Amino acid sequence: PKTVSGNTSLVAQNTTEALMSSSKVSVLGYGEGILGPTIRVKNGENVNINLVNKLSDHTNIHWHGLKIPADMDGHPDQMVMPNETFNYKFKVNQQAGTNWYHPHLHESTAEQVTLGLAGLFIVESDEEKALGLPKDSQEIPLIIQDKRIKADGSINYQPTMKEIMTGYLGENILVNGTSKPFLDVSTRFYRLRILNASSARIYNLALSNKAEFYLIGSDGGLLFQPEPVRNVLISTGERVDILVDFSLAKVGEVVFLKSEPFFTMGNAQGNQPFDIMAFHVKSQATDTFKLPNSLLNFSKLSASTNIRSFTLTMDHMAKEGMHKINNKIYKSNRIDETVVLGSVETWDFDNSIGDEAHPMHIHGANFQLVSRMGGRNAIFPHEKAWKDTVLVGPGEKVRVMIKFEIKGKFVLHCHNLEHEDDGMMLNFEVK
Ligand code: C2O
Ligand code: CU
Ligand code: CU
Repeated sequence: PKTVSGNTSLVAQNTTEALMSSSKVSVLGYGEGILGPTIRVKNGENVNINLVNKLSDHTNIHWHGLKIPADMDGHPDQMVMPNETFNYKFKVNQQAGTNWYHPHLHESTAEQVTLGLAGLFIVESDEEKALGLPKDSQEIPLIIQDKRIKADGSINYQPTMKEIMTGYLGENILVNGTSKPFLDVSTRFYRLRILNASSARIYNLALSNKAEFYLIGSDGGLLFQPEPVRNVLISTGERVDILVDFSLAKVGEVVFLKSEPFFTMGNAQGNQPFDIMAFHVKSQATDTFKLPNSLLNFSKLSASTNIRSFTLTMDHMAKEGMHKINNKIYKSNRIDETVVLGSVETWDFDNSIGDEAHPMHIHGANFQLVSRMGGRNAIFPHEKAWKDTVLVGPGEKVRVMIKFEIKGKFVLHCHNLEHEDDGMMLNFEVK
């Protein structure tokens, strides 16, 4: 995707793109071609973006990961009708990180995102710049999505009843809207900013040469220090920022970014390994980059005794919405929780009786993980940073601490987009 400033216009429209072959098919995008531009701003900047709706349907934009006023957040109440324009205006006030944007309508988010409406929103800062991380042609944004492609090459989004339960999984893995993607690299460090913008698919990222890579950031920005890992599990809505050292490969080699098998769930995802994209190591380079010892010194929230619990369940028999939080499905005019502005709370996402995976996401605030009990029973390296989305696997109970710094009405929901559209969402109000 091309890069633009925070002063721009995004036209949500029907457009065309060559997804599988050279023949163009109809998709959605924020301009020409699938997806939207990467928006890059510095912390402290004022953003002024016009969303022009040229679709035949309503839409809006949610700025996933940005801590901005509720009336700019793209709550499902705030719709932009066909042929209307909405002006998103806010000041960026948060640390450097990889955020993203996408529509947030109750009941048709999955379709609009799958057909192509999504883009990255990168926040930069002076602190981050001082680290001298790989940049320009060594800094690569990767939007990973799976799609089901019809015989004519276009995207098929028609989930069955069963797929509303389990989530829609496509056979074709696309990166930045391209199938069978590859990139020519030289023998040096690259920074990959990876977003999982799939509707339900989870990826267990690894390199085909089994090399270690370094995790440096997650949803809410940088980690304390680089964490060497051989794989990282990224569920829908999550981002990971990694450094890959291609000097560990030889010129002429091809290194694949792949997904390795992981714990399996009801819908059989996680069984099979598959390739995501290829890196062709094309040339020798002398790399002056040195991995920093430490990245960002953020403070840990201290424990709060104000505990709320959110039980995640799936009820096959339910008529309107099978996926529930605390036994309720989403109602736009109902405030489910009220939170005091400035407070820190402990929230439990309880999937201990469930057998599906729920990536739980909160708007208007970031959180820190405290514990994961049951299931995988651990906090993983990419979860040691500020987060806005956390995977609550089958049998797991995940405890987080959240600091509420922005007032207004926001949503908490499952970022499996079929589950979200099915009603696995609630409103909370900070006041
Ligand atoms: Cu990326 Cu409420 O979502
Ligand atoms: Cu969000
Ligand atoms: Cu879910």
